[in-house]
This record gives sequence, structure tokens and C-alpha cells, in this order.
Amino acid sequence: MAKAKTSFSCSACGSVFNKWSGRCDGCGEWNTISEDTGISKGPSAATLGNSKGKSITLTDLRTEETPPPRTLSGLDELDRVLGGGLVPASAVLVGGDPGIGKSTLLLQAAAQFARKGLKTIYVSGEEASAQVRMRAQRLKLTDAPVQLAAETNLRDILTTLDQEKPQLAIIDSIQTMWSDTVGSAPGSVSQVRAAAHELTSYAKRKNMAVILVGHVTKDGQIAGPRVVEHMVDTVLYFEGERGHQFRVLRAVKNRFGAADEIGVFEMTGRGLAEVTNPSALFLSERGTPAPGSVVFAGIEGTRPVLVELQALVAPSPHAQPRRAVVGWDSSRLAMILAVLEARCGIPFTGLDVYLNVAGGMKISEPAADLAVAAALLSAREDASIPAETVVFGEISLSGALRPVSQTENRLKEAQKLGFTSAIAPKGGKSPRVAGMALNQMGDLTQFVGDTFGAG
Ligand code: TYD
Ligand code: MG
Repeated sequence: MAKAKTSFSCSACGSVFNKWSGRCDGCGEWNTISEDTGISKGPSAATLGNSKGKSITLTDLRTEETPPPRTLSGLDELDRVLGGGLVPASAVLVGGDPGIGKSTLLLQAAAQFARKGLKTIYVSGEEASAQVRMRAQRLKLTDAPVQLAAETNLRDILTTLDQEKPQLAIIDSIQTMWSDTVGSAPGSVSQVRAAAHELTSYAKRKNMAVILVGHVTKDGQIAGPRVVEHMVDTVLYFEGERGHQFRVLRAVKNRFGAADEIGVFEMTGRGLAEVTNPSALFLSERGTPAPGSVVFAGIEGTRPVLVELQALVAPSPHAQPRRAVVGWDSSRLAMILAVLEARCGIPFTGLDVYLNVAGGMKISEPAADLAVAAALLSAREDASIPAETVVFGEISLSGALRPVSQTENRLKEAQKLGFTSAIAPKGGKSPRVAGMALNQMGDLTQFVGDTFGAG
């Protein structure tokens, strides 16, 4: 008789293996792989195809149904990241480090949705109802008709949902939920998967929207939110640096809207406040222009955002000079350094290079290449870029500058914040924005020559 196949999965990224190992090949984390305890054995090879199932009703693509109305919470930053409000019967995952403010955000969202008339239930598996009520009091949300429960037993939660028939259920957090059909401990990959599967399929069946909270974990014992990403419609991550007041809610997957959209919040004594003009916030700490500081006109989702990039280049005491990056991709930095050396003859050997995106923001757009190069050169040459100039553009390995999308939006945002000129790649559209001088360059060598003299 064939032995039941055991499988092992990684609690950090959800990769599945058929043998145990100390380090996950998927994400590189150590000690995160453990044996799965399955929910059911699943269909065995012999049954499928032999016995007949019932035939499924097929439909064509034409549909008479009008799309279901979305509910706006009134928190614009949240509604935009959701793709324009909450979609009925959708499943949303909100991930983030412990203590970043997920519970605060979702309690505020629950209150807003409830005030807009959605029947809302907030299930806390981590805090007692009294704690949640105390927080609500502090946030001045006690008048909102949100129903609270402190519970971790999935069967009881589903029974309650079935009785109450809410339109929105918030589960804080999915790692504390526990299903009695799975043998392993709460927080394990199997439990988290089973709980997420039960809740999302229930939501689809009963036309209820569900928001799951997931802590990002470093500990191998507890599964992270990545293991349920594929089960939900929308994945949002709540990010921020501990030392900074503001938090960014970022969509990394959205079946109902643009991915890469961000919402910016500020953590105050009275909960999270929306930041409607993030550029002003990100640039607020900017002093007099110093060498190494450059303002990048970026696009996050559908919205332009200006951020300051800071570089420091100093002679290295080490044989292997340091390359440290905060808020940007370090391999992309290595690429820019290589292009500067190979195409412009500007070496960084023997120099330590530090790059920081001010304010704790994270940038992933290739359009930041030129701004990074400008910051590096400015730091290396000890020459500052004019304070009222913004920079953007993608750099190719040949040293050519590639045009980027939404030039006009970038320029308009810069103009709104008092900038008067922009350095951008040649080609593509060159929109005119009143009050903005657009300085277009074809390649990196020209940029170096024009901006830093002979280079
Ligand atoms: P919380 O929402 O509990 O985080 P998470 O659910 O992601 O673990 O937020 C906890 C932090 O937020 C805590 O350090 C205190 C801070 N906070 C404020 O600064 N102001 C507030 O009004 C609230 C409710 C929390
Ligand atoms: Mg919490």
C-alpha cells in the first residue's frame, strides 16, 4: 500500500517541498519549514474520471449583471488603495509588522464602514473586547454600530456569522484563528491556510466581504501572511519605519483595482490620520540643499509622489567598500554604479556608498534611476543639485536614458510644490507645464556633462 504523501511547507513564503530542509529554497529563510497536516487526503488518483460528477452550468462572457456597488469608507486613502471602495463579497488581506497599526487602521475602517450602513463585525483573536472598546474610546469611535467579538474558534465564528449575516467581517488576526478540523497548533501553516480558506470561501458563498489581518513574522513557528496571499482578492501591506510617524498602505495585488497604489497615514495620539498630500510630508524635513540630496518625482499607483533621495559617498577604510541602501533596491544601486563607471568613466572603487530614501518611504520604480545617479554624483563631486529641480528617468545598461510614464503628472506635482525645473529623459511625450522648465537629456554622459561640468 502506498504511504500517504507528506509535504512540508515554509511558514514565511508558503513554498511546498516534499522533504524537510533547514533553509527554504523559496525565500532563503532558516528554520521555517515544517511538516503539513492536511485537512483532507483529497481525491485519490483512482476516483477521478471513474465516477461521474455533476456537470457544471457554463455561461458566456456576456453578462447582464450590473457590477455590485462598492462601499466607500470615507477614508480616501483606504478607498483608493482598495481600488475605489470595498467590493462586496471580496476578501482582503492586510499584512504588516506587529505594532505597525493594523488593528488601529481596521478599527477605524470598521467604524467608517458601519457608519455608511454596512453591517460590520470585528472579531479580535488577540485582544479582549474590553481592550478593543478602550481603543475605540480613545479614537472616538464608540458611536459607530460595529459588533465586537473576541474569539479564535473558527467554527464558532462561522456559526455567528451565519446567524448575524454581516456584510463585512474583520478578522484580527488570521494567525490566531483555529480550526478543529486541523490537528496542528494555531499559527501553523496548515491552520492559517485552513482558516483563510474557510473564511474566504464562506465570504464568497454568503456575499460578505472579509478583511483578514496578518502579521509579518520572522519566527518559523508562526505562518506569515504570504501563505494566504493567493486565496484573497486584494493584498495590502501596511508599512512604515518605527521612528517615523507615517505609515504607507500599499496594494501589492488587487483584482479590483491598480496594484502599487499607496495610501499614506500618519500615526497620531488619536489614531491614524489621512495624509492627503504625501509629497509635502516627505519633503517637509528637507533643509537647505546639500550635496547628495535630490528630489525624485515618482508615481505610486495613480498618484504622483515627490521624495527626497540622499546619498553619501566617502573614502572607505575597508578593503571591500560598503554599499548600504534604505528604501531602494540594492542590486539596482549596483547597476547604476556600474553604468556610471563603464559609460561615464566615474569610478566608485574605494568609496563607501550610502543611499537613503528620506522619511522611510520605499521606492520600486525604475524611474528613480536618474535621481539616484544624480544623488550619487552630487555626493561624490560635492556639488549640490539646485533645490528647485526634480529629477526622474530610467537608465539602461548602455547609459541611455529611457522615457518613463506619466511625465505630465510628475511635472504638475512638482510645480504644485514649488519646483521650477525638471531633468527628464528625452523621447516620449514632452508635455508643457506652466512654470516648469523641462530639461531633457538623451544619455547619462550628457547629464553628467550638463549638470556637473566635465564630470
Ligand atoms: P496596533 O494597531 O495595535 O498595531 P498592530 O495591530 O499592527 O499590531 O498599533 C499599535 C501601535 O500604535 C502602538 O505602538 C501604539 C500606537 N498607537 C498610537 O500611536 N496612537 C493611537 O491612537 C493608537 C490606537 C495606537
Ligand atoms: Mg493588532
